[in-house]
Amino acid sequence: MLLSFHSYKGGTGKTTFVGNLGVMLSQQGKKVCIIDTDVNGPGLHSLFDIRYDMTLIDFLQGLCSADEVVYRYEGSDVYIIPSKACEEDISALFTTPGEAKDKLLDLIKKTGERLDIDHFLFDCSPGINKSSLLTMNIADKATIVSTIDIQDIRGTYVLSNMATKLGTHASLLFNRIPLDKKDEINEVVLDFSDKLGTELLGLITYDESVARSWSRKIPMKDEPDCSYCTQLKAIAELLIG
Ligand SMILES: Nc1ncnc2c1ncn2[C@@H]1O[C@H](COP(=O)(O)OP(=O)(O)OP(=O)(O)O)[C@@H](O)[C@H]1O
Ligand SMILES: [Mg+2]
Repeated sequence: MLLSFHSYKGGTGKTTFVGNLGVMLSQQGKKVCIIDTDVNGPGLHSLFDIRYDMTLIDFLQGLCSADEVVYRYEGSDVYIIPSKACEEDISALFTTPGEAKDKLLDLIKKTGERLDIDHFLFDCSPGINKSSLLTMNIADKATIVSTIDIQDIRGTYVLSNMATKLGTHASLLFNRIPLDKKDEINEVVLDFSDKLGTELLGLITYDESVARSWSRKIPMKDEPDCSYCTQLKAIAELLIG
């Protein structure tokens, strides 16, 4: 399955969620490839502490082969395709958006066949931009990670409508929710997703230990029974089944 993760504003928790989801799926015996399509502000390599040479950008520019941009995480079944920071949008590297899409699909096909990948996860850039929409377009399912900040919520509405226009199944995930307001907020976001006609995957509460890890550790690897991981597993069940 091709799963993409988006947000309107930055810092809603996409990279953290995608990284931990990938590790969880590998613990369940799946082979997972996580692609950093946040080319303007990549961060996946930092979360997984990957020292890279060739990246997604080099592949898209035709500077290396597909197998040169895939990095195996600590001998596990999590494979990372990092990006280096790029001032351009992915589609700006090509003459037409169609070429960008074909090249990305080529990478997925080659990597999927070579490593027998079950799921590709795309860590997308925040905001409405061509890279994010390109990824949303090729995904089987797009998840919009939002907080309850009104700036995020209004953008989530826009992103959800874009997924509808692209014909991609979208679902919502609300992250960084204050624990003492969880029930109250659950009612509000249920109503919001209902009106939007978009599936609600659930809520994840603000977790002090995740916040204080500063993306230097992966809870699903080190403490898989923590509150953040337990909530993530419930959401993954709905998302992947
Ligand atoms: N549920 C949570 N509780 C507390 N902190 C969280 C939670 N989820 C993520 N964080 C923290 O929030 C910060 C931002 O998370 P992350 O980098 O995953 O966001 P992002 O959406 O990928 O950001 P960007 O849009 O800039 O790529 C990180 O320091 C992360 O550890
Ligand atoms: Mg990120």
